[in-house]
Parts: sequence; structure tokens; C-alpha cells
Amino acid sequence: MHSAVIGPFHVQRELGRGDMGEVYLAQDTRLDRQVAIKALPVHLANDPDRLARFQREAKVLASLNHPGIGAIYGLEEANGRQYLILEYVEGETLANRLAEGPIPVDESLGLAKQMAEALEVAHEKGVIHRDLKPGNVMITSDGEVKVLDFGLARTNAASAPGTPPRTSHASAASR
Ligand SMILES: Nc1ncnc2c1ncn2[C@@H]1O[C@H](COP(=O)(O)OP(=O)(O)O)[C@@H](O)[C@H]1O
Ligand SMILES: [Mg+2]
Repeated sequence: MHSAVIGPFHVQRELGRGDMGEVYLAQDTRLDRQVAIKALPVHLANDPDRLARFQREAKVLASLNHPGIGAIYGLEEANGRQYLILEYVEGETLANRLAEGPIPVDESLGLAKQMAEALEVAHEKGVIHRDLKPGNVMITSDGEVKVLDFGLARTNAASAPGTPPRTSHASAASR
């Protein structure tokens, strides 16, 4: 079982897990809001490769700001482990939604458009997700898409996080 307290965050329950991480719902007792906390599984928590990838995931997310991409609030260390503090997305994964049955065409098109817009914004920042699949996409109760899990993302060196953005569309169009 996971430690129930990570700094100011009180872990409430598990939200999900994938190949690389465990995600928990927690209460941020300082800001009085719920957050999602992602940790490496304990057997990988000290693996230098995984840790480096984990920190990269944090930086990639920090470089992106779009309603269709689950946001990051911080990278915390506690009890000798590292944690991504993430926007809590209330809803279900596209994987779960698909398991309930086919999605009507109109709704599918809306979801696909939102995913494409989120990925376009990432691409403009030089970020390629590389692991887009139903388990890495959530749909909120309002039908909003949130792309998650940039753990395998690759960045284009020319526009990696921390470097200035490339030429804007406006100046490109005026050429
Ligand atoms: N911000 C979040 N809010 C709510 N649930 C989440 C959030 N991030 C992840 N999850 C849940 O945890 C699961 C695993 O998260 P993910 O980031 O895909 O981990 P992994 O890198 O192990 O695949 C997701 O499929 C989803 O069910
Ligand atoms: Mg995943």
C-alpha cells in the first residue's frame, strides 16, 4: 500500500495504473482541491532510466498548456520517491468508454477533433506523444477530452521545453 501522506497531499484512493506508473487521487490540503498523483511503481522507483524518463514527462507536460492536455502542477519528492502532481481529471478513460459499447459517430468525431487539437498544440511545441491509445485519453462528464501520459513522448531538439517557441503562424503567413 502507498504512503497515505505525500507532503501536503493526502492520498485517498487509486485512480488507475499503466505500464509505468500508479496514479492516485489525493487532496491538496494547502489549496483545498483534489489532484492526481503519479508515481513510479516501487520496484522501478530507483531505476535511473525510469527516473530520468519520469522527470522528462514532468518537463514535457510543464511545457504544454492546453485544455485538452491534462496539466501538471508540480514534481514533488517525499519519502525518497518522486511524484508528479497532476490535474485531477474526473471522468473515464476512452478505453473504459469503448468497453461499454460503440460510440455514436457524431460523438466520435467530436472526440477525435479534440484529440487532434491537443496533439497539434503539442506538435507545435515539438512534442510527439508516441503512445496515443484509449487508456491514455480521458473523457470528462462534459464530454471534454484530456490527453494523458506523455511518459514516452519525444521532443524535437529545436523546440524542446525551455527553448523559445518557433516562428509563429502569423509571421510565417506574412512571408
Ligand atoms: N490526471 C489524471 N486524472 C485521473 N485519472 C488519471 C490521471 N492520470 C492518469 N489517470 C488514470 O491512471 C491510468 C494510468 O495513468 P498513465 O499516466 O497512463 O500511466 P502509465 O504511464 O503507467 O501508463 C490512466 O489510464 C487513468 O485511468
Ligand atoms: Mg498510460
